[in-house]
Amino acid sequence: MTASAILFQTFSCKNQKEKPVQEETKEIASVEEQLYRPNFHFTPKIGWMNDPNGMFYLNGKYHLFYQHYPDDNIWGPMHWGHAISTDLIKWEHLPIALYPDELGYIFSGSAVVDYENTSGLAKNGEIPIVAMYTYHDPKKGDEGKIDAQTQAIAYSLDEGKSWTKYDGNPVIENPGIRDYRDPKVTWDEERQQWAMILAADSEMMIYTSKNLIDWTLTDRFGKDVGSHDGVWECPDLFPMTIEGTDEVKWVMLGSISGGAPNGGNGTQYFIGDFDGEKFTLDDSFKTALAEKHDFWIDFGKDNYAGVTWSNVPEEDGRKIFIGWMVDGHYANQVPTTTWRSSQSIPRTLRLISENGVPMLRSEPVDEVRNFIDKGLEEGTVSIKEGEEKILGGEDIDYSKARIAYTLPSIDEISYTFKLSNEKGEELLFGYNSDDKQFFVDRRKSGIVDFHDEFAEKISVAPRLSEKSVHDAEILLDKTSIELFFDGGSTPITEIFFPTTPYDQLSVISENGELILEDLKIDQLKFD
Ligand code: FRU
Repeated sequence: MTASAILFQTFSCKNQKEKPVQEETKEIASVEEQLYRPNFHFTPKIGWMNDPNGMFYLNGKYHLFYQHYPDDNIWGPMHWGHAISTDLIKWEHLPIALYPDELGYIFSGSAVVDYENTSGLAKNGEIPIVAMYTYHDPKKGDEGKIDAQTQAIAYSLDEGKSWTKYDGNPVIENPGIRDYRDPKVTWDEERQQWAMILAADSEMMIYTSKNLIDWTLTDRFGKDVGSHDGVWECPDLFPMTIEGTDEVKWVMLGSISGGAPNGGNGTQYFIGDFDGEKFTLDDSFKTALAEKHDFWIDFGKDNYAGVTWSNVPEEDGRKIFIGWMVDGHYANQVPTTTWRSSQSIPRTLRLISENGVPMLRSEPVDEVRNFIDKGLEEGTVSIKEGEEKILGGEDIDYSKARIAYTLPSIDEISYTFKLSNEKGEELLFGYNSDDKQFFVDRRKSGIVDFHDEFAEKISVAPRLSEKSVHDAEILLDKTSIELFFDGGSTPITEIFFPTTPYDQLSVISENGELILEDLKIDQLKFD
């Protein structure tokens, strides 16, 4: 079953299953706020959230919209919630940007800054921000009609504060495809046109336009490429330069509702060329795909539907990505009541060439480092085989911390970090040199029984770097861990729900002498 099908199904039986938010007691809310409201990850103030949508940057502000149902804590009639930030870490909530209407719910989509007013939507010299999204007609959906999803636009003439839906909506009718959604628009500088990619069943469709209103279908991609163990959703398509070269490649992201490395939802990527109409896989990427593996933006269970910000200034030059930090299979059941789910830390994507194959790396945006309060420089720590060493001391609050270290050589080393509390709840993560895999084990991490798929297995992820030297940067919040191994070549994102905060960190050397160089355990500061 697709992620949306699971969410939609839960929605239709919500009245028998769940109490509305308003009935929850204040007591539960405050315990939950304290225990589970993240310190530095974006969450909706109240109600349900899923995919990040419509992200753009303008005049010092990063805008983040998101799939939102404000009236309950489970998936429902979709709105676009809205928040802004000057640093990608601290967010200010703004009023809901788009409400469902007679054409349907407002599903996922994107937004661009239309500097040249190509859309003609500005009449008095303003710069329109144009959002493109999918309408999902719930009535047609419930009746099983194939054409419930169409594409539409809305615009803002005041830098994103208020939004008007275009009166000629939908701008693209449904061509007879049930899952037909999530338009992501990019400015194609070379051809001076807009390019848009959307997910259609189990492939991508690419359209182009001169005015953001009239769209021409130019390509269908992906039928026989990558994983097809689910419906394709939430794509992205954008150019990037391979680091250290002048070579530009186009990166395609595509979320898939099943078949991710550790089961459930995940996001694949493809690297290739775009000639203004068609996307073609890069030859070496194609060979690697055929020979080796699928390419994933994250290997953990909890990073889905991620896309990138538009209009980040050229002098900044970053491609900044954010994903929904939960798996759709259990998103409706995670143990919070007043709100549900959070977004990942925004990440900088880099395109590098590894043995001639273009590959993505992702790392937390640098802005996170501005929140380092005090760094505990542990220096070099060595731990003998079989030993467990407690790190960090008692005054570290692991619900807002950053850990970083380097191993001079990882070849024969296996290690396990353990984050635990006095109730014996523990989160384990580390590396196993026997199978060259990283792992996160949340089987005893606290509340795990809200869904069978949450903690049935240890999550594993391949070590993709072939270098002997190994590094890691790890971000810890109240309910999430984001691990960026080997310069972000293997990112893993997972969530957890301890019944009391973890307050001890230790590391166990499973195999050989573990040498952690430049070990840093940084306390992050958030009010
Ligand atoms: C992905 C998704 C999108 C859709 C949205 C609906 O999680 O299913 O494909 O637009 O959620 O909320």
